[in-house]
This record gives sequence, C-alpha cells and structure tokens, in this order.
Amino acid sequence: MSATLAINGGTPVRTGPFPPQKKVGKEELKELVDVIDSGNMNRWGGTKVVAFEEEFAAIHGAKYGVASTSGTSALHTAVGMINPSPGQEIITGPITDMGSIVPILYQGAIPIFAECAPDTFNMDPADIEAKITEKTAAIMAIHLFGNPCDMDPIMEIARAHNLPVIEDCSQAHLSEYKGKLVGTMGDIGCFSLQQSKHITSGDGGIAITNDDEFGIRGKLFTDKGWHREQYGPRVYEVFGPNYRMNELSGAVALAQTRKMRDIIDLRRARGDLLRELLAHVPHVRLQKLMEGCKHTYWQFGMYVEDDAPFTPTEFTQALSAEGVPCGAHYIGRPIFLCHDALRNQRLFGDSRYPFDHPNARPGITYDENTCPQTQHVLDRLVQPMCPTQFMSEDDVRDIGAAIEKVAEGLRK
Ligand SMILES: Cc1ncc(COP(=O)(O)O)c(C=O)c1O
Repeated sequence: MSATLAINGGTPVRTGPFPPQKKVGKEELKELVDVIDSGNMNRWGGTKVVAFEEEFAAIHGAKYGVASTSGTSALHTAVGMINPSPGQEIITGPITDMGSIVPILYQGAIPIFAECAPDTFNMDPADIEAKITEKTAAIMAIHLFGNPCDMDPIMEIARAHNLPVIEDCSQAHLSEYKGKLVGTMGDIGCFSLQQSKHITSGDGGIAITNDDEFGIRGKLFTDKGWHREQYGPRVYEVFGPNYRMNELSGAVALAQTRKMRDIIDLRRARGDLLRELLAHVPHVRLQKLMEGCKHTYWQFGMYVEDDAPFTPTEFTQALSAEGVPCGAHYIGRPIFLCHDALRNQRLFGDSRYPFDHPNARPGITYDENTCPQTQHVLDRLVQPMCPTQFMSEDDVRDIGAAIEKVAEGLRK
C-alpha cells in the first residue's frame, strides 16, 4: 500500500465516527421497573441480585455466585474466602488494574509479581513457580485484555504446592482456554461489571466458586460477616466489609447476563476478523492466542517489534491520524510502580504494614528491577481501537486497513 499517511497530509482511512457503545436498553429497563415497582432496592428481600448470582454461576457450572459492588470487591471477596494470614504472599501479574492489588493488601497479604510473557502479555507460569516461597498463600492469574492465561501449567504448579488459584476475569467474560471458560479452572473466578466491561451494571462484580467453604465464607464476607439465618442476638461469623450489590445494579446485571453469550459471540467475531486481517502486517504482532483458546477482545493489544522502523508512539500518532484512535503502553509501568504509596510501602498511616508484619518475609521491595521484562512489554505495547459488538464488519475492515497502511507506510 503506497498511499500517503494522513499524518503526512494524506487522506485518512476513516473519516466518519465509529458506532457509539450503548450497552443497555429495554431489557435492563424492564428489570429495573420490577425493582422500583417492588419498592425494595436492597438485595435482602429482593429477587434480582439472587437471580443474577444464580444465572451467572450456572453459565459457568459453578455452585456459588457472590455478587458485589465492583471487580475490586469481587477480588477482595476471593482473597477473603482464602483468608491469608498477614504477611503471607499472593503471586499475581504486574500488568493489571490496581483493583487486583488493593484486595491483597487490604487483607494484610503481600503481592508478589510474576513477569509477563512478551508474546501473550500474560503471566509466565515458569516465573510464577520461581516466585513461590514458604509464605505463598495463593496465585491470582489475570486474563489480560480477554486473552486466557496458560492455565494448565498454572494449575499444575498450584496443585503441586497446594495453593488456591483466583482467576481475575475482569477483562475476559466467557474467554475460553482449551474448551473451558475462564473463571472455572481456578478455585475462584472474579468478574468486573464496570462500565467498560463486556457486561456492565455501571459498577459491579461477582465471584464464582464450586468450593463450599469458599462459597459460604464469600457470602458472609460481602455482608459484614453477618449470619442472617440465625435469629436472636447478632452473630458475625467472618470479618468482612459491606460489599452487597443492590437490586438496581442486580436488575441491570441480570439482564446483561442473559445477553452475555450474544455479546461475546459478536465481539469475538469482530475481534477475530481483525486478527485475520492483520495476520501478515509487518513490524507489529498481535497478542498471542494459545492453541485451543478463545479471546474476547476487551482491548486489542499489539506489540511493536523491537526492530521496527518506528516507535510505538509514532505508530500511535500515525494511526490516530488515520481516524482510528490508538493508545500506547496500557498502564505505562508495572502496576507496583504506578502507586507511590505501594512502592514506598506506606499504605496504612505511618506503618509499613503489611510489609513490616513479623510474619512477612523481610526484604520485599518493588522497583524498576522487579519485573524488567514486563516493563519492556509495556514499552512496546500499543492498543488500537478494539473491535466491538456494535461495529459492522466494514468498521473492522477500516481499522485493519488503517493499521496496515501505517505499519507499511511508517516503514519507509
Ligand atoms: C484486570 C482487572 N482487575 C480488576 C479490575 C477492577 O475492577 P473494578 O473497576 O470493577 O473494581 C479491573 C478493572 O478495570 C481490571 O481490568
């Protein structure tokens, strides 16, 4: 393709807007009207949150669904189910939202970061194993951008060390690993329903599990530990916050759950089309999807090859000029470098808790040398506009044509 790049004064590939992303409509409204008509907006006495939990869990073949107020609170609930002692460690990924890390720290545990692989951008199982110590309490695997982690070796390592696994599926609803849905391979699967996610209630979350002890503990954890089925003087059985989802959110979450399969099928078809269109584009490579896996494209991550004749920033600017918005570097730095208080280990007042707890392994620090490979991945990462369920095939073809034009044009 020899057309002049728009950034150099050529005609942009795309001049019109992409379709808006209105994710809710009459189905959500109908469920909401039921709630308002009932006069009850709290999950206790309502039907919507319970139905959401049951239907979402059933889709995943899980015995328990525990709804909560956000993906962060779903992950906090998962850590609360496992109930680590202060100073114990949870191994997780450095490319994620702070919502994966806050729950670990609030439970007094210490996050330990495994490097991300330059092809999948997901946690490298070998590095997870290398980071296990006698303090490790759990592994939290993050399915980045909707791309499933390599769960077989992760589960093998976890079982060999008798460690529970939390799957952070906040970006990966209905992604599949070798025929299995994400969230069903580990001991607990957690999902976010924040506005940008595949299904949404504005904010919201859910943790699923098949484990009776985790399921019961999780239900209590999200409700201040209150054992409501016992009459008489109050009994609080678990120490936990109030993370209850309310009926208004539950109504929307329920309607969204009923649409989830259709949303994902369409989104995946659009994302897979872009993947196909870009198979032979030079100097950029797609986030590797492992054999037998299905992506759900929360973001469309690409790696600008180390020897490309352009920088990720140049690529981003040129692509945006073609009418296809493009981000670079996702969170910019490994998550522990994005948060000064975490990096400086000053999270709770003047203390260094949990890093100074007598049970904690001394000498844990986070700096530029903690995950250098992950920093390199972030440095090379670009995120062109992701195909969505609202786009036509032609919209996706425009994205593909613009990426190809830029990758070819910036070459010269
Ligand atoms: C991987 C990951 N984990 C956790 C979260 C936290 O979810 P929420 O914003 O719903 O609390 C997010 C949100 O973007 C996320 O992307």
